Order: sequence, then structure tokens, then C-alpha cells
Amino acid sequence: MDDGDAHPVLAERLRPFTTTIFATMSELATATNSVNLGQGFPDTDGPAELAEIAAEAIRHGDNQYPPSAGIPELRRAVATHQRAWYGLDLDPDTEVLVTVGATEAIAATLLALCEPGDEVVMFEPSYDSYAACASMAGAVPRLVRLHPPDWTFDPNELAAAAARPRARLLLLNTPHNPTGKVFTVDELEQAAANCRAHDLLAVTDEVYEHLVFDGAHVPLATLPGMRGRTLTISSGGKTFSFTGWKVGWVSGSAPLVAAVRAAKQFLTYTSPAPLQLAVAHGLGFPPKRIAGLAAELAAKRELLCGGLARLGYTVYRPSATYFATTDISAVAPVLSALDFCLGLPGRCGVVAVPSSVFYDPADPGAGRNLVRWAFCKRDAVLRDAITRLASWAP
Ligand SMILES: Cc1ncc(COP(=O)(O)O)c(C=O)c1O
Repeated sequence: MDDGDAHPVLAERLRPFTTTIFATMSELATATNSVNLGQGFPDTDGPAELAEIAAEAIRHGDNQYPPSAGIPELRRAVATHQRAWYGLDLDPDTEVLVTVGATEAIAATLLALCEPGDEVVMFEPSYDSYAACASMAGAVPRLVRLHPPDWTFDPNELAAAAARPRARLLLLNTPHNPTGKVFTVDELEQAAANCRAHDLLAVTDEVYEHLVFDGAHVPLATLPGMRGRTLTISSGGKTFSFTGWKVGWVSGSAPLVAAVRAAKQFLTYTSPAPLQLAVAHGLGFPPKRIAGLAAELAAKRELLCGGLARLGYTVYRPSATYFATTDISAVAPVLSALDFCLGLPGRCGVVAVPSSVFYDPADPGAGRNLVRWAFCKRDAVLRDAITRLASWAP
């Protein structure tokens, strides 16, 4: 999506990242009154008791700058959560940093750790902020392809990327957007082995850690030799269905967290105090309650994936997250995913995202037949989407 010519004042390193497909598709959704299965946000609110804590904090004057590293309650809650769920011990004062969503954590981490020209090893397809943030840091993405149906990678390709002289860090997203893959322990061990062998740092994006249906989420930081070289990123948006709150965090060894903190203080300095308090409370929910959302989403996965499969799409059933990827070739043999998605709202009132946007723009064939659908919507909305899609004919 290089429309850099339309933005002559924009710095060159950002020109490939001007328009996001999510904005385009959401505008189309509004203009055509479509069911929006494009952007990944739930259409119901998270727990009312968390909203009430935030509202109460605002009413009671919790409205000035909180500490730059985050309020102690949230830093403690993150440390307690990491210990309870994964057995990771963290000092809440030096090894946890609160950020404005995982998005800021990713940006601050790459800005803090990369020198210009460094390479960031990441799997493709990848969440769209990674390449943009790498670019802002002057770094270069080094992509390792995931292959359907199970989104596996070629270990030699990973090893070759990690062995390159400028490789600085591995950026790993598990559970993975857009594919819904949960990296297996064996795959994580391969990733860890490459980090150890080539002295790479690791940065993990685990925002979907609690939206897992099949398998178990294992943080890379728990693997042998990884605790000291890994920064783990997560946020409350997906776990608590408050994606607009943008409360995230990064945890890891004190020197790594201190480096990210140096960058974060000049990006946003701090994150909204009342929302931090509410998320701290949420992280203390009993595990069953935290896992409850995944159970609800698992049923929605069946609803959407079953419906799409009946309509003839090849569905790559996700093990986690709230996205399903389909191959559209059988349904729309001549259309690219982008053209399919641009035409869909007008033709039957449904919005989805072409997965090609999660691939390197320099490889126009990549992801050409793949479309991502979000299923974090009310059941009636998902059923409506399937009914509308049934009326579509290429
Ligand atoms: C893989 C991944 N990382 C990070 C984010 C952003 O998280 P946050 O809203 O906490 O900034 C998203 C949101 O969609 C995501 O899918």
C-alpha cells in the first residue's frame, strides 16, 4: 500500500505505512451499513465492575500524572499474574513497565533496542505495527514465512534469518494475529535455540494469551536461557474486552525494562491512571473468570468457521485469538483478497480484511487468496454475516 507519492512531506521511512486497511474497511462498513468483521474489537463491553472502578477513580480525583512506570497496583498485579499463570518471578518495581497498550510497548521496545540497520526477525504474516515500528527505529524486518494449514515455518529459514550479522532481536507473536496460531513448545524451543545461538534478544507479543481454545499458551520467557533475554508484552484490551482502554505492559529483566522505559518516557511519559487501576483489579480475577471469555469465543469460532465452511471457503480454524483466516479461491477464483474485500460490503454488506496486508508489500502474491474474519461479535451478528455472505456470488 505505498501511496507515498500522495504524501510528499512524510519521512521516507514511513511512506509505506500511510493508509491502514482497517481505516479503509471501517469507512466502507459505515458507508454501506455492513456487518464489520474487519477490525478486531468486541461488540459487547467487558466486565461492568472494571468500568465502575475506572469511573469511581475518575470521580475520586485519580486524574493527575501517575508514575511513569505505571501505578504500583498494576505493576504488582502484572508480577502476580506472571507468577500465577507461568511461574515467572518479576520484581514489580524494576521488571514491569506499564505502557499505552501493547502498541506503545512494541514501539518503545524497538526504539530502545535497535540501532539503525539492525534486523528484526519476525514471522510473516505479521501484525501490521511491527514493520512500521521497526522502520521508525531505523531497523529492517527479516521475515520468516508461516505456511497454512497449520502455519508452520521452515526451521532453516528461521536459522538463516537469526544468523545474519545485523540480526538484533526476534519479535514473536503468540497466540498469533492474523492466523490464530498458538506456537507449540517445540517451535518455541527452536526460536529460543536461535536466540541463544546468535545472542539475540527476544520480544514477545502475548496480547491474546487468554484467548486460547486449543493447546496452551507458553511464554517464550519460560524456556531455558530465555528469562534474561526476553521482553514479554501484553495488555488488558483483549483479555477484558476493553480494547479502547489501551493499557499494556512489558516485563523482563531490569536492564531490558529500563531500556524500554527510557524510550517510553519520551513517547507518552505515562498511561491513564484510572484505567490502570481497573486493569490491575481485572488481572486479579480468579483464573476461571479470566478463561471465561475464551469459552465464549470458542463457541463463536464454531459459528463463524462452520458458516464459512458451509459456504465453500477453505477455513484455517484458529487455535486462539478472535480471528479466522480463509482461503477464498474456491469461492472467488479470480479475485485477489483485496478486490474481494473491497467488493464485499457493496455486494452483500459484510466487511473482512485481506490478509495480504499482513505480508511484505514487496511480495504482491503473498496472501493473495487469504481473508481474515473477526468473530468477537454477538452471535446474532455472526449469523447475520453468514446469511449475507450466502447471497454473495462472484
Ligand atoms: C498482535 C497484536 N498486538 C498488539 C495489538 C495492540 O494491542 P493494544 O490495543 O493493547 O495496543 C493488537 C491489537 O489488535 C494485536 O492484534
